[in-house]
Amino acid sequence: MDTPWQHTTVLLNEAVDALFTKPDGTYVDATFGRGGHSRLILSRLGPRGRLVAFDKDPDAISEASRITDARFSIRHQGFRDLGELPARSASGLLMDIGVSSPQIDNPARGFSFRNDGPLDMRMDTTRGESVAQWLATAEQQQIAEVIRDYGEERFAVQIAKALVARRQERGPLATTADLAQLVAGAVKTREPGQDPATRTFQALRIFINAELEELQQALEASLDILEPQGRLVVISFHSLEDRIVKQFIAQHSREVFDRRAPFAAPKAMKLKALDRIKPPAAEIAANPRSRSAIMRVAERTDA
Ligand SMILES: C[S@@+](CC[C@H](N)C(=O)[O-])C[C@H]1O[C@@H](n2cnc3c(N)ncnc32)[C@H](O)[C@@H]1O
Repeated sequence: MDTPWQHTTVLLNEAVDALFTKPDGTYVDATFGRGGHSRLILSRLGPRGRLVAFDKDPDAISEASRITDARFSIRHQGFRDLGELPARSASGLLMDIGVSSPQIDNPARGFSFRNDGPLDMRMDTTRGESVAQWLATAEQQQIAEVIRDYGEERFAVQIAKALVARRQERGPLATTADLAQLVAGAVKTREPGQDPATRTFQALRIFINAELEELQQALEASLDILEPQGRLVVISFHSLEDRIVKQFIAQHSREVFDRRAPFAAPKAMKLKALDRIKPPAAEIAANPRSRSAIMRVAERTDA
């Protein structure tokens, strides 16, 4: 069954071109979403090629179950578990991280301050705590740290104070509209063109889904599962994520010398940075949600 919420794949051809090196390889799409990248990969795969996809979101999993191609399999798992795949088995790993448009647009998922809905924001609605549950008991200081660190919000302390005061006076927040209204009252200066709740919603989403930790774990696992010359392709949508990807590639793109053994051969570098691509103007015009995307491409270099 088609859902009313569609996802327009970002950097579709660019990502698959960068990922795909041979038709009979095994590829991993760590973020299936609505399968835009996966379907293009499948169309290029040879008969012995394989595509293994992951997603946390049950709606993404039901979309994936419509694909009947025997070369394809889907796992309802976070990409922090990528390391469960066999070592050096993947010719390419694609991660198109963040939220999909159906997650943002469906009010029942509680990701958006534009549509009123339950304050949830979990990508995997089958486990874990919703934002409403977490905010009902979290310490003021922890709320402030999350909003400051993951939302880069100057008014994090004021927002956390207002949240705790409201919780004590009238009970916990239940809906996205409740949160958006509370934040609007606590943020004193507004950034032009941005809703005052943008940063707080981003922060709570990143926190409740452990997005940055999972990204770091998946990147570490990529060094186990990629075969030599295998490709790592990561599309990210904000600077906190892109910084992690950039630093990871840079850290593994250097030869490592052991200072205690100055004459020993250096340890080989593991990755070589190949490319950094942003969506072309025409794509941004057609799909404004692609405007903040940055895609980084690296190749596994050690044997
Ligand atoms: C931007 S969408 C991917 C869109 C997809 N490339 C397409 O073309 O349809 C991101 C997807 O990644 C999933 N996701 C985000 N974090 C994840 C994680 N840690 N583990 C597994 N899936 C994750 C989300 O549920 C969402 O479906």
